[in-house]
Amino acid sequence: MGKELVITIDGPAGAGKSTVAKKVAAELGVPYLDSGAIYRAITWYMLRAGIPAEESGVLEAALGSLLLEITKNGISVNGRDVSKEIRMPEIDKNVSPYSALKIVRNSILGIQRAQGKNGVVADGRDMGTVVYPDADLKIFLTADAEERAKRRYEERIAKGETADYGQILEQVRARDEYDMNRETAPLRPAENCVIIDSTQMNADEAASAITQLARSLG
Ligand code: CDP
Repeated sequence: MGKELVITIDGPAGAGKSTVAKKVAAELGVPYLDSGAIYRAITWYMLRAGIPAEESGVLEAALGSLLLEITKNGISVNGRDVSKEIRMPEIDKNVSPYSALKIVRNSILGIQRAQGKNGVVADGRDMGTVVYPDADLKIFLTADAEERAKRRYEERIAKGETADYGQILEQVRARDEYDMNRETAPLRPAENCVIIDSTQMNADEAASAITQLARSLG
């Protein structure tokens, strides 16, 4: 089973979406799409090019000339693998204003939908509401902000980076606020979604809950 299944996993920052989505995709044998990586890659490029996060001809032209490629292990921009750079705190801090822009969102709808043509487990903010409105299964994965900040903190420490829990918590809250209150494709649970609160669950438990739901679709 599973070849054509489209499963969306949306939710706030640090809810564990990517870890859980990868596990579900592997279990069901369908590709995984990390839509946040696309917004992060655009942010990485625009920051380097000094193009501010506002609708402008310059931004539009830059988007038009940008070659984004989703690779097996990450994402590349104009042929350069940026998978590591896009996880830096500077991107965390700047990604929401760029991703709130309609021209940014519209420019990548096509790439995202193309990824789903043979089935997909896609994680992000608007996978179930905008990108794949006809998905077979829609999940909204959330957890308390403190728990999400703790997970992000531990992720950074495990990578050998320095991290400040208080600062991460503040940023997680600020990003949620921004993502929920923007005009285009705001973060919100899709209609008919299943809400999973993973505050008390580890990634394996959340993934197996979703896999079971997917299998029960028949
Ligand atoms: O991993 P984390 O939840 O921290 O973030 P992410 O999924 O990599 O997404 C980074 C940012 O990209 C979010 O805070 C949103 O502003 C934006 N995003 C979006 O607008 N729509 C999506 N489908 C995915 C991400």
